[in-house]
Amino acid sequence: MLLQVLGTAAGGGLPQWNCACPGCAGARAHPERRRRHASLALRAGEGCWYVVNATPDLGEQIEAGHELWPGPGPRDTPLAGVVLTDAELDHTLGIARLREADGFEILATPPVRTALLDHLRLGDTLAPYTRIEWRELSTKPQPLTAGGTIEIDAVPVSAKRPRYATETGPDDPTWVVALRLRDTTTGRTLLYAPALAAWTEEFQYAAEAADCVIVDGTFWDDDEPVRSGFSTRSATAMGHLPIDGPGGTAHRLAALRARCLYTHLNNTNPLADPHAPQHALLAARGLHVAADRMVIEL
Ligand code: MLT
Ligand code: MN
Ligand code: ZN
Repeated sequence: MLLQVLGTAAGGGLPQWNCACPGCAGARAHPERRRRHASLALRAGEGCWYVVNATPDLGEQIEAGHELWPGPGPRDTPLAGVVLTDAELDHTLGIARLREADGFEILATPPVRTALLDHLRLGDTLAPYTRIEWRELSTKPQPLTAGGTIEIDAVPVSAKRPRYATETGPDDPTWVVALRLRDTTTGRTLLYAPALAAWTEEFQYAAEAADCVIVDGTFWDDDEPVRSGFSTRSATAMGHLPIDGPGGTAHRLAALRARCLYTHLNNTNPLADPHAPQHALLAARGLHVAADRMVIEL
C-alpha cells in the first residue's frame, strides 16, 4: 500500500488567511512550517489514485507531487475519486475543484452524502460540469477498485455534524468515520482518523490491528481552544480528542504496536512550531507528527 500525505492542517490551514496567532505568524515567517489541509493520496492500483478528503487546497496538493499529475493523454488523470471521512467543509470544498474531470467517484457514508447533496447542493451544482458516481462507504469491507488489492471500510467515530447541517435527520454514528484500508496482498492495514471525537471500543480494536495509525492531532490539550480565545468549547466538545492529558490520545497510541502519526493540526497547536518541546514529549512515546508530502509505504 502506497500513500502520500497531501496535507496535515486542520480547517483554515497553516497559516490561516485571517489569523495572526503565533502559529500562523510563525508559518508566514518560516515557509517550511506551512501545512496544507489534512488529506492523503492513496494508490489503488497501477495509475489509479484516490484522495482521502477533498480540501480547499486540492489543486495545489495535486501539483505538489507527481503521482497525481495528468497524462499521457491531454486530459487523462490518475485521480479516480474521493473518499470522505466526514462532511466538514475543510474535507469537502475541494470536490468542486474537480469539476473539470469527465467524472469521478465519491465514497461517502449515507449522512455525509445527504449533507453534500441536500445542504451543499453539490449534485445539482456540479451536474452541468462533471459526472459524480456515488458509492456507499460502509462498515463492510469492499474493494476500492475492481480487481485492486486495497479493501476499505469505515469505523464509525461520531454523530457530530457540520455546522451547516445541524438540523437534519436522526443521529447517525457515521457522520464522522475513521477509514480502515487493508492491502489484501500483504495483509497490512492503515487506520486514518483525522477527526476523532471519542476513543470507542471499536476504534481501539481497529487500532490494535493496524500497522499504521494516523490520528486527529487538532489540539494539544483540551483547554487549548478556550485558552487561545477562539472558542468557548473544549477540544473534546468540538469533536477532537486532545493529544495530551488523561482523556488524550497520546497514551493510548503509545500502547499500540502500530506506527502512529498525528495530522489535522490546528494553528493554535504548539506542535505547529517544530522547535516546541511537545515534539520531544511525543517522540519519547514513539509518536510523531505527519509531515506534508510524506510518503508512507505499508
Ligand atoms: C472540524 O474539524 O471540527 C471542522 O473542520 C471545523 C470547521 O471547519 O468548522
Ligand atoms: Mn476539520
Ligand atoms: Zn492562527
